[in-house]
Amino acid sequence: QKLQLNLEQIEKGGYDHFMLKEIYEQPLAIKDTYRGRLLADEGIIKMAGIEDNMKRFLNADRIIIVACGTSWHAGLVAEYIFEDLARIPVEVEYASEFRYRNPVITEKDVVISISQSGETADTLAAIKLAKSKGAFVFGVCNVVGSSIARETDAGAYTHAGPEIGVASTKAFTTQITVLTLIALRLARAKGTMSSSDYRRHLHELELIPEKVTKALEADKHIQAVSQLYKDSHNMLYLGRGYNFPVALEGALKLKEISYIHAEGYPAAEMKHGPIALIDENMPVIIIATKKGHYEKVVSNIQEIKARKGKIIGIVTEGDVSVRELADHVIEVPETLENLSPLLTTIPLQLLSYHIAVMLGKNVDQPRNLAKSVTVE
Ligand code: G6P
Repeated sequence: QKLQLNLEQIEKGGYDHFMLKEIYEQPLAIKDTYRGRLLADEGIIKMAGIEDNMKRFLNADRIIIVACGTSWHAGLVAEYIFEDLARIPVEVEYASEFRYRNPVITEKDVVISISQSGETADTLAAIKLAKSKGAFVFGVCNVVGSSIARETDAGAYTHAGPEIGVASTKAFTTQITVLTLIALRLARAKGTMSSSDYRRHLHELELIPEKVTKALEADKHIQAVSQLYKDSHNMLYLGRGYNFPVALEGALKLKEISYIHAEGYPAAEMKHGPIALIDENMPVIIIATKKGHYEKVVSNIQEIKARKGKIIGIVTEGDVSVRELADHVIEVPETLENLSPLLTTIPLQLLSYHIAVMLGKNVDQPRNLAKSVTVE
């Protein structure tokens, strides 16, 4: 048993938990994801699974994304990117709902399934259904040779390396990276982006790993903030546009490992319900980066402050307006709006990690949860 323990220690590479190790692996994992695919200087994105099936993608009436859990959140981010950059209509579905509701699927649909493990039963069943209706099915998986990877017509691996912590971290950011590469490649093929905008995106994507490293530098500060909020019973996560799915993911991370109730909401929907919950006992984590509805999010922050809610703002480096209003701010480097989820996710992962550790929870193996859910 001692040997077993030592082995695990080695596998954790000096980190206290796999989750923390995996959070810190993200700069490298994202680089591994785009290595050989993103040639920013040449203005080229190379992905065999896309090139070989370009016609299917270009003729698609729409893309349907099916996934569960954190992978579903990556799908939501992809919806914004695909529609924004490549102008392809996208629907994002929980695999478990999709498979049972007699969905309308045709041969002109492209279905993208996203799955870290490649073994999630509902996602697997959803793609089998889509295939039986003649749709072209593309997989975005992490585990090489997994069931979903084998069942799909084509795909692209995330190459994030093994993810051991039950709460998904690097799988999420690498899924977004792959999906961004696909959206950019399709946008180029369709001519929906100017060549300068396209190139700007490629260069900025290449810079993301070092910006993630920069975002990780806030760790100590995030730990201090976590100490102040660890005893909360509820937390509200708000974000808008590209950062709405990040708010959902942030809330899910907190629930999964700290067992604190948390809800993610689109910031503008706050007035249709969650605002009723806000008082001095409700911490609100709000993503308020410079690009993307900044003014509107700032006005949401004013509304929270007027009701004495505690505000933790995730902001762009150097921000002043939110800093004046919020109780705490956590900075992330500036980037393009559509790449911002790759950075804003980082502090939310660290916040939930530290809170769970402080509460003495089993971070890597939270109660009632499994890493891959192979039953319905
Ligand atoms: C489980 C895991 C989650 C994961 C979800 C989907 O619930 O605990 O972390 O997001 O399954 O898993 P997949 O392997 O399909 O991405």
